[in-house]
Amino acid sequence: MSDAAHSPSGRAARRYLVRPAASVYGELMVPGDKSISHRALMLGGIAEGETSIRGFLASEDCLATLAALAALGVPIERPAETQVRVQGVGRDGLAAAARPLDMGNAGTAIRLLMGLLAGQRFDSTLIGDASLMRRPMERVAAPLRAMGARIDTQGGRPPVRIHGGSALHGIDYALPMASAQVKSALLLAGLYAQGLTRVTEPAPTRDHTERMLRGFGVQIASGAGQVSLAGGQRLRGCDIEVPGDFSSAAFFIVAGCLAARDGLTIRNVGINPTRTGLLEMLRLMGADIDLQPRPGVAPEPVADIRVRAAALHGIRVPEALVPLAIDEFPVFFIAAAAAAGETVVTGAAELRVKESDRLAAMAAGLSTLGIECELRPDGLRVQGGPMRGGSLDSHGDHRIAMAFAIASLRASDVIEIADVANVATSFPGFPQLARAAGLALED
Ligand code: S3P
Repeated sequence: MSDAAHSPSGRAARRYLVRPAASVYGELMVPGDKSISHRALMLGGIAEGETSIRGFLASEDCLATLAALAALGVPIERPAETQVRVQGVGRDGLAAAARPLDMGNAGTAIRLLMGLLAGQRFDSTLIGDASLMRRPMERVAAPLRAMGARIDTQGGRPPVRIHGGSALHGIDYALPMASAQVKSALLLAGLYAQGLTRVTEPAPTRDHTERMLRGFGVQIASGAGQVSLAGGQRLRGCDIEVPGDFSSAAFFIVAGCLAARDGLTIRNVGINPTRTGLLEMLRLMGADIDLQPRPGVAPEPVADIRVRAAALHGIRVPEALVPLAIDEFPVFFIAAAAAAGETVVTGAAELRVKESDRLAAMAAGLSTLGIECELRPDGLRVQGGPMRGGSLDSHGDHRIAMAFAIASLRASDVIEIADVANVATSFPGFPQLARAAGLALED
């Protein structure tokens, strides 16, 4: 096949045709949380004893992490699609992989593995698909070097070459950007470092690593924007129940705000407060969202989320909410387009270095649908208004593809979305669930 037939992410292109639909309804469950699934595999891999994972996200990204750990010598079984049993090899039990570890499209996987592999005795090389090969890695490599690691990137991007046999020492590091991936990579490297590793965040970011490390028996201190751990600690295998991914639920939460006249319920969703900034943003716009907490899957809080259609109005998004909703902006901008008046997002330059430049990709797609928007270096201004149909491109980005499918609840004509194979990186089964909820999506 010629290059032209491939997406920027290097996968064969496919498309969605989404006809206008008037309402969404019913109850659904989204697949397991991506961030938690990656972490469960990695921590399980270096724990002592078995880690049993239920509700695992069997998506391309998480399967890339699973394959990487297997290549590093961790025995892993999958008795069912969403069930994984990891036989931990202990903190010092990983072995060199025979080949470069291909992390596909997964930014979380490559960055967390950089931390995990920085303090090993052996060399490792990390690569990915065309999109991942363009993403910045120095944000992780630089502080790891300050800990004593030897790491090469290519102009700041993958391939990432990690030279084994470096003795790591703890550092006190102030993150220049709000990034849970960088924070988590440093904490993982900190397990292999002598002394204390302390990370200070400019704003709170998702804390799944901290919560999960505690579940594996690691002593970790957190508070006042700082998190620290002492090196040399051992992990004990444990049972992990992965809740539904809030970032996948987000597409249906916005769909519900636009069109669930009789309500739409998404069951069993992780509602860790470091992830749910979207709920606050939508409520500021006038959304009708109700959470019913579900008991019993500590350390992550879980709820059923019920949404009803409401008349939304534009807002200026408080910058403090941006890191707490970082993956939800593509679909949030669809809510903004459907709202009355203007919505302004600032302080969101990180969106430019995700699976695509999400500010540019959303601005381009919204303009195609007839929405007036202004692209800024760190955000977007969106003027709500009527949406027409049109042909769009996902830019190789799963969340852009899914966000524009939700726009069909307000568009006057068919939306054609090119290059959607990437949806499988985070949300296998999205087209089926979307149809069950009432969207007229053909894939
Ligand atoms: C993630 C952190 C965020 C997020 C990504 C998952 C994680 O990235 O966008 O989808 O699991 O730690 P950054 O750390 O780059 O903000």
